[in-house]
Amino acid sequence: MTAAPPVLEITGLRVSYSDRRRGAHGRFTAVDGVDLTLARGEAVGLVGESGSGKSTLARAVVGVVPVEAGEVRAGGEDLGLLRERDPRAAARRVQMVFQDAQGALDPRQRVGSALGEVLRLHDGSVGSEGADAVAALLARVGLEESHARRFPHQLSGGQRQRVGIARALAVEPDVLILDEPVSALDVSVQAQILTLLDGLRRDLDLSVLLIAHDLAVVRNVCHRVAVMYRGRLVETAPTDALFAAPTDPYTRALLDAVPRL
Ligand SMILES: Nc1ncnc2c1ncn2[C@@H]1O[C@H](COP(=O)(O)OP(=O)(O)O)[C@@H](O)[C@H]1O
Ligand SMILES: [Mg+2]
Repeated sequence: MTAAPPVLEITGLRVSYSDRRRGAHGRFTAVDGVDLTLARGEAVGLVGESGSGKSTLARAVVGVVPVEAGEVRAGGEDLGLLRERDPRAAARRVQMVFQDAQGALDPRQRVGSALGEVLRLHDGSVGSEGADAVAALLARVGLEESHARRFPHQLSGGQRQRVGIARALAVEPDVLILDEPVSALDVSVQAQILTLLDGLRRDLDLSVLLIAHDLAVVRNVCHRVAVMYRGRLVETAPTDALFAAPTDPYTRALLDAVPRL
């Protein structure tokens, strides 16, 4: 018997943007030859300073920016091709949660309606069945049924991020990519969201790619950490090993910047 293919397998990924400073057809390579694999139920932290290419990598995986070279496979299938053939199936493979849940949610739409819409598209649940599904989804992320009637601006930052996570979970994805999901939150709220993520990963056998510029964020919830520097992964190691003995000088510099608690 052969093992199941990884839920996400990134090989030789390169992404570039047009850059006029480099001439009329100039390009700037933001992600340059990245290899990264995620197993089912695994949590991997992707860390690196601002501008290192973390968001670009995530955007390329979910198809928001084009892959210039390399491959992104999900469950053994080319994710880009799957997206063209069957966008809904592709959405069930990988979902992304953005840092700014405020910007990602429609300010005029109540939470319940926003979640109901995704559920309807995903599994066709309507009417009271839809309301039950929304309530179940809210409960999953630690919110109450009453939150369904609120507008995004009537929620705290942490609650909005929970809604963002709920919306991503609505399609029952294999992989959740979270791009700096707690950067804008207070430290105590950060911890609650990270605990929630850890629980969801265990309960749903989700794979998580958690992006952060701060190593402290990924320490307690990720099995492995990948360190990105100027578009490349400079080190990928089990979390404990990386904290105990970083091999790359850039990782060491990042570690020195982590406050000791
Ligand atoms: N839409 C874009 N057009 C041109 N350059 C971009 C664009 N988005 C990001 N970049 C550049 O690509 C590099 C990586 O950015 P990004 O992926 O956002 O890094 P990170 O998420 O690690 O902060 C940066 O130098 C940034 O300025
Ligand atoms: Mg970013």
